[in-house]
Amino acid sequence: MMSTNDLSAHLRWIRTQFPALQQSVNGQEIIYLDGPGGTQVPQRVIEAMADYLARSNANAHGGFPTSRRTDAVIAAARDAMADLLGSEADEIVFGTNMTTMTFALSRALGRELHPGDEILLTRLDHDANIAPWSALEEQGVVIRLVDIDPEDCTLDMADLRRQLNDRTRLIAVCYASNAVGTINDVTEIARLAHAVGALVFVDAVHFVPHGPIDVRALDCDFLACSPYKFFAPHVGVLYGKREHLRRLRPYKVRPATENSPERWETGTQNHEGLAGVTAAIEYLAELGRRMGPNAGDVRTGKRRPALLSAMEAIRGYERKLAELLIRGLLAIPGLTVYGITDPARFDRRTPTVALRLAGQAPQELARVLGDQGMFTWAGNYYAIRLTERLGVETAGGMLRLGLVHYNTAEEIERVVAALRASAHVG
Ligand SMILES: Cc1ncc(COP(=O)(O)O)c(C=O)c1O
Repeated sequence: MMSTNDLSAHLRWIRTQFPALQQSVNGQEIIYLDGPGGTQVPQRVIEAMADYLARSNANAHGGFPTSRRTDAVIAAARDAMADLLGSEADEIVFGTNMTTMTFALSRALGRELHPGDEILLTRLDHDANIAPWSALEEQGVVIRLVDIDPEDCTLDMADLRRQLNDRTRLIAVCYASNAVGTINDVTEIARLAHAVGALVFVDAVHFVPHGPIDVRALDCDFLACSPYKFFAPHVGVLYGKREHLRRLRPYKVRPATENSPERWETGTQNHEGLAGVTAAIEYLAELGRRMGPNAGDVRTGKRRPALLSAMEAIRGYERKLAELLIRGLLAIPGLTVYGITDPARFDRRTPTVALRLAGQAPQELARVLGDQGMFTWAGNYYAIRLTERLGVETAGGMLRLGLVHYNTAEEIERVVAALRASAHVG
């Protein structure tokens, strides 16, 4: 008998929430293994976006009802994101996507930096957490790159400690790698940074759909994420400690408000997208409430405890999926998995698995799987410093299978069987 906080007991309900999961390709049910590139959305997200456009479509801060409703949509999305990340609503900034928002933050932070100041980046990171900071080299900022252990694709913490010094002004690091799934010890990295007076920027784009986040416990200064990776539409989110958002000077147009966080939100926002963000977070909260009477305060409808219980359940379920997938993959002759493969250490990885099959180009494998309805990615997924370090960049990178909580054990069996068949052909 399954306990109620076992997510697999709710899988049927979960899967009926996502209309895209009912689609087929060439007569085969689609298996979405492209979650790290972008996830599918629940029906209520689609309805919230359509409803906004049908009933409330307007610019913000006007003196008429649709504009006031738009203000309410933005405020609701800020509250929802604050509940998801464990912050206050005025510490949430919306924008186009993580990459654009990180460039904006680097330009604002750059106003405070001087030649010789140092920034620590890592080889595990997506280029969206490298290029915006590297751009500051133009003004004399020194960029240092923390290495990884290529054996298991974990961050080399000894190297990080070695490169950290009293000239370090910022450490920019991913919470989890979008290529190989490694979860970094962000709390420890924040502690080390603060000990030398540096700030910490966390790229949580890959981590958010896979586990609970508490920005207060992490004590990070900034954290960025992308709702389209966690069942919502295409917008970006930046958390910043209130004091930083108030003190730093973003590049902005003069008539726009100086109030924080709005002063960071250049131009008109994607209001229908924000309506969708709230709906996606409501979906996760409902999942949490379904876990049982202790999972979130059902009486008051408080969302943060419900979200935490949903994300804990997702984490536990995905860990089992990762075990099944990696065990199946390692039994295929000629297949190499990059990243942590020891199940005892799976609390340090997400269910995002990068691999190569001897003698096979990842792009060709992705095409063959795609024709059978299995949607994967091949290449470097912009984590180019990592693919270079692993020596696979010039050989087509890696094939990536990215699971989220709507994936199933049956889907894993199908993709493992397809890869085994490819290994025999190759
Ligand atoms: C870890 C990570 N960081 C940053 C990004 C960039 O996010 P966005 O598309 O919102 O700019 C991605 C996108 O794949 C990612 O996986």
